[in-house]
Formats: sequence, structure tokens, C-alpha cells
Amino acid sequence: MNMLKYKEVIEEGDLVIIYLDVRHMYPLTIKNDEVFQSKYGALKHNDCIGKKFGSPVPCTRGYVYVLFPTPELWTVTLPHRTQILYAADISFIIMQLDLKPGSVVCEAGTGSGSLTHALARAVAPNGSVYTFDFHEKRVELAQKEFDSHGFSSIVKIEMKDVCSSGFGLKNIADAVFLDLPNPWDVISLIIDSFKSSGGRICTFSPCIEQVQRTCDALHKCGFQDIVTVECLQRTYDVKKITQTILNFKHSKKDPSLTDDNPQEQKIRKEDPVSEKSDVNKDEPSDCETVTHWSAVPPLETAGHTGYLTYASYIKLD
Ligand SMILES: C[S@@+](CC[C@H](N)C(=O)[O-])C[C@H]1O[C@@H](n2cnc3c(N)ncnc32)[C@H](O)[C@@H]1O
Repeated sequence: MNMLKYKEVIEEGDLVIIYLDVRHMYPLTIKNDEVFQSKYGALKHNDCIGKKFGSPVPCTRGYVYVLFPTPELWTVTLPHRTQILYAADISFIIMQLDLKPGSVVCEAGTGSGSLTHALARAVAPNGSVYTFDFHEKRVELAQKEFDSHGFSSIVKIEMKDVCSSGFGLKNIADAVFLDLPNPWDVISLIIDSFKSSGGRICTFSPCIEQVQRTCDALHKCGFQDIVTVECLQRTYDVKKITQTILNFKHSKKDPSLTDDNPQEQKIRKEDPVSEKSDVNKDEPSDCETVTHWSAVPPLETAGHTGYLTYASYIKLD
């Protein structure tokens, strides 16, 4: 399955994303004669084969949509082996590292490969991602996923403790990304990996004490324009809401305010508590309900994930 090359029709062996609703999605590899169980009942894999990606496919108690696996959908469905980065941070990282097709980016640690998938898509088809992790099993599983998702020519993964030996790469990187507990120990070891034209670095750390040590190390190593940001995402709930609207009886002080005056009725429905309106506001005569779509702000905002620290490296001769 090549995640970087969209295709129309589902075949045996393809990775697909089963979509129940926006909060319930599951990755699935289509295998002949197998069955996937969901709250909509049994989905026969065979029923997906030959269908177009994005189609509804019937189950025993309803239907599901079968989607093409993009890096975005992989991030929300992948098997977690570590904490991972999500869309709000990922999108900002890619923009701030100035990644585009052909860029070369070095990353540590690989973790569950959530960011790596987005990096690979950003630099494809002729760029490279060098990714490092010192955890053997994570490297093994990530390697399998990168190969089966069609990233073999773009992503090179290596098991390595970057705190002791850096990346072991010279004059190659446009950008560096570090998501590990102690980025300040790595910075001086990876400077040589930047191209002679220099490049951009980003580090991700959950705690402000880590950020302070990282900024110190960046400054000592000659990085410039050091900036730390926190991405907080506020998701509005878009839903149909029903509101009750009161119509008010009016005193007939003003001859224009009559029940026959449709313009006045309209004003009262839209603005029943208007101070300007010369009507008796204390006497609601009847009410009606209206239903409409609304974007409802969240009562709570998803919490802190981490700080992103960016800087530029300009090589001096
Ligand atoms: C939080 S995870 C990275 C998650 C990743 N950004 C993602 O989106 O899936 C941190 C990873 O760094 C690795 N790591 C920690 N210290 C390391 C080091 N010194 N060298 C290489 N990898 C390291 C850990 O094994 C772990 O897999």
C-alpha cells in the first residue's frame, strides 16, 4: 500500500481506514474471507474489495465508510507505542521547518512514527527523512510500517542513541526535529548534519524547564531567532441547537405597535429584550422554537501537549 499515491479501488492487502464517525476510526488490512466487527455489526473484508475508497460498505447492522489511509488518518488510528504528536503540532512543525518536496529532514526519536509519516509526505517524492530511535522494538515496528506504507525510498530509520553519537550525518539536512527527553544534550552533536546553507531546528518538550535548557544550548551553539510556542487547539462542536423565542405582548402606547404590524413582530422575535423597543417586555404572550446549526464553543479546552522551540542555524565560515 503506497500512502503517498492515491488510488481509486480497494484491493486485497490494502490498508484502509474504517470510518464509523469522526471519533471512531480504525485501521484495517483487507484480507480475503476475514470479518471486522464494529458497533454496526460484521463487515466482510470481501465486501470492500473492488469498492472505491470513500464508499459506504454494508455491515450486518448498518454501514461504514472505507477511507484511503492518509498520514492525517494514520495519526488518529495508529497503534501507540509511545506518546505521539497530533495534527495541531505537526502542521505547525512542517510549516516552521519550511519543509517541501525535496527537503532533507533528520528526526529523533521516531517513537510511534506519527510525525515521520507527515514528514515523509511533506518531502516526497524526492526528499528524505532520516529518523533515529534507541529502542530496538520501536525501530523494528516503525521500519515495518514505513515499508508497508510505501515510504522505503524516502524514510531511512536507524537504531541509535543520538545523545552519545548524534545522527552521524554531515552536510545533508535542511531541517532537524527532536522529540526526546533531553534535546539540549543532542544539539551540539547534530550541528554538522546541517547543509552548508544552514537550516531550521525544532524541538518538542512538555516542560518549561526542558525548554529553558534547550534554549540555552541553542544559544551556545550559535542558533538564531529562537522562538518557543505552544499550540492549543479549540475545537467547536458544530451541531443543531433548538432555541425558544418569546413573543411579547405590547402596550399600545405607540400606534405603530399593533399585532397587524409584521415588521414589529419580526423585531421582537429577533430581539425580545431590546432596550430600544417601546413595548411592555414583562408579558410574554406566546413562544416558538427554532432549530438551526451552530458552532458551540468548548466548555473545556484540550490541555497542554508541549512547547515547540524553533531556531535557525546559519553556518559561518
Ligand atoms: C515521545 S516519543 C516520539 C514520538 C514521535 N514524535 C511520534 O510522533 O510518534 C520519544 C522517542 O524518543 C526515543 N528516544 C529517547 N531518547 C533517545 C535517544 N537518546 N536517542 C534516540 N532515541 C531516543 C524514545 O525511545 C521514544 O521512542
